[in-house]
Amino acid sequence: MFLLVFPIVLCLHSASGFEQNPPHLVGIGIGDVTGPAADVAMMGYAKHWQETKGIHLRQFARTFIACDDVDCIVFCSADIGMMGTAVKQEVVKRMNAEFGGKYHGGNVILSGTHTHSGPSGFLSYALYNIPNRGFVQETFDAIVEGILDSIREAHRSIRPGKIYYGETLVPNANVNRSPTAYLANPEKERKRYEHDVDKVMQLLQFESDGEIRGVFAWFAVHPTSMNNTNMLISSDNKGVASLIVEKHFNGEVMPGKGPFIAAFPASNLGDTSPNLKSPVCIKTGEPCDPITSACKDRGDFCVASGPGKDMQESTWIIGDRQAEAALEIIEEIGRNKERSRVRGAIKSIGQYVDMTNYQFELEQEDGNKTNVTTCKPAMGYSFAAGTTDGYGSLEFTQGEKDQHGIWRILTALLDQPTEEQKKCHAPKPILFNTGDMTWPYPWQPEVVETTLGMIGNVAIAALPGEFTTMAGRRIRDRLRRVMRSHGKRDPKIILAGLSNTYTSYVATFEEYQVQRYEGASTIFGPYTNAAYIDQFEKLADALFDGATMRSDLFPPNLLDKQISLLNLIMPDHPPVRKDFGDCSLEPEGMYRRQDSVHVAFVSGNPRNDRRKNGTYLLVEKLEANDLWVDVATDASWETKSGSLFLQLVYTVVTDEEFEQQAWNTGEGEVTPATKQKQQARRRKSWRLRSQF
Ligand SMILES: *[C@@H]1O[C@H](CO)[C@@H](O)[C@H](O)[C@H]1NC(C)=O
Ligand SMILES: *[C@@H]1O[C@H](CO)[C@@H](O)[C@H](O)[C@H]1NC(C)=O
Ligand SMILES: *[C@@H]1O[C@H](CO)[C@@H](O)[C@H](O)[C@H]1NC(C)=O
Ligand SMILES: *[C@@H]1O[C@H](CO)[C@@H](O)[C@H](O)[C@H]1NC(C)=O
Repeated sequence: MFLLVFPIVLCLHSASGFEQNPPHLVGIGIGDVTGPAADVAMMGYAKHWQETKGIHLRQFARTFIACDDVDCIVFCSADIGMMGTAVKQEVVKRMNAEFGGKYHGGNVILSGTHTHSGPSGFLSYALYNIPNRGFVQETFDAIVEGILDSIREAHRSIRPGKIYYGETLVPNANVNRSPTAYLANPEKERKRYEHDVDKVMQLLQFESDGEIRGVFAWFAVHPTSMNNTNMLISSDNKGVASLIVEKHFNGEVMPGKGPFIAAFPASNLGDTSPNLKSPVCIKTGEPCDPITSACKDRGDFCVASGPGKDMQESTWIIGDRQAEAALEIIEEIGRNKERSRVRGAIKSIGQYVDMTNYQFELEQEDGNKTNVTTCKPAMGYSFAAGTTDGYGSLEFTQGEKDQHGIWRILTALLDQPTEEQKKCHAPKPILFNTGDMTWPYPWQPEVVETTLGMIGNVAIAALPGEFTTMAGRRIRDRLRRVMRSHGKRDPKIILAGLSNTYTSYVATFEEYQVQRYEGASTIFGPYTNAAYIDQFEKLADALFDGATMRSDLFPPNLLDKQISLLNLIMPDHPPVRKDFGDCSLEPEGMYRRQDSVHVAFVSGNPRNDRRKNGTYLLVEKLEANDLWVDVATDASWETKSGSLFLQLVYTVVTDEEFEQQAWNTGEGEVTPATKQKQQARRRKSWRLRSQF
């Protein structure tokens, strides 16, 4: 009898794997990944002097888990520069310990929004840790713990649910910052697209018990509205979009505390910029050279900005435009529930690939096939030139195809590339031959992760770096073709940029020939993009065939090799006759609309306690019923907290929006100093807390 039953059970189970419309389960979660708010260089512009000196917006990780009865996809978008191998390894390791084998490397996609205003030091390859004087354990821990918090919450909240897909155009929130490189792509290909950047936002909406619980909205724009002079931690335009949409659904709940979450993950943003005004030379205001982005005066920098009057306003505008687009899609989904519903099995597949020598057959335009290969990593000269979002060194320009100057000798001292390596990367002149640089530990990744998730007809391709607009479109094209060939009608391809592994940029073969910043930072040579297209095709085929990919290749765990030269944190002492939490700069009695309120408290180094899921600052309002209610934390747009010696200085800008909530009349009373002090004591400073 038992023998008879067994095969039937097996049959049923395997049949359910191919069930057309299995029921879905969904979970949603958020965690705080804010890193050290002092002393640590920010990740993105690679400027050692751009160190954190406080907080404008807290950084959050937002996760959805979607499952059917066979497989799951865990997708997390964190307000950090990018995702790195070490963070992914650590998160998956701890997930394994906590949840068993349910979640693993192949069905967990971790992604960074690419904000350039978060603390650095969490990547495990040497090149990315130079500006920040090495690895920063505090940043790494903050990110790993915050991501795990969001995953735990998502896991705990899993319930039967529904998933919806929608999209819309976001007409005015991105431009191409290397348009001359884009023009190198074949005309026939370019003619298929109206713009030189992707203007479509793609959104997944998660519901359960008939209630909307969260949305994830991918849109290709660099979060570089805050420029390299900013010293306050910020989630940039993507984070602003999250705050606006979350507030729309959560009401007056403080940022990061509401049940509804809205994530704005990175996409194929490699050559995109939110700085909509054309780049100009800082000193003269003249346009820069379109090919090299250099100024006539070689001592001048070429910088793009806008659309606002300063970087804060630009951040708000670009964030708001993304938020508006997402809200529009949500409304549209509400009107067309049946049509927007995503039905079908949930599947995922991942692989590790040795990108230093990936050989594959490439089909040319004319149908001829050639065997091509990728190269060991190397960075080109124009990498050091930076971009119009953030300049690099004046000794370099974009579009450099020759070695020059003292650099030929200096960088050869680090490592002299072989003729073979030079030929492999041509026409890129090699500045840093990172593929052969292993001291004190490897400089750039060699084994790279590519992952593909599928929910019905929606595919999520986890891209291990910053793919340019066209590089992304080519992946989307190929995946669409493969999905159709496997019988998927109307496939939707979401490109999840900066996921799992960070390998700098990926430009197309043609853009690579131009060697602007993105091409010079395409580390595995001219066929990098084509190699990934090949990999995603193989992943998709394997996913449909129910096959598994080779699994004997893993990136090294470099955590125990890391070096940190960051200054140590000193224990904090309040000044004589002062206590932590004492108010050292009293607010005025009265404020009008648009006024800034400056308050200072005696505090210590925020690196001593990052106040995870908490705040260094609380603005409260006294209600008629004599109860104090929270109106803003250090994660709110309206507040800025900066550290200054032993004080934290808080600035609250009473803009109209804020004013309406905080002060109902045109003018209002700010809590008198005694109350301030009481509150300061009541919530205590972080230092007091750490003493107890
Ligand atoms: C964060 O704080 C909120 C309340 O302020 C709490 O409900 C939530 O569980 C906390 N999350 C974590 C991960 O500690
Ligand atoms: C950064 O933005 C500020 C305005 O907020 C501007 O004054 C400054 O020149 C900009 N700096 C760079 C390098 O873009
Ligand atoms: C493609 O193959 C044909 C026939 O083998 C050859 O004549 C042609 O030159 C090839 N084209 C290229 C670009 O190699
Ligand atoms: C590419 O290499 C494979 C394996 O070595 C070989 O079978 C194939 O014929 C080659 N293709 C071309 C176009 O040379």
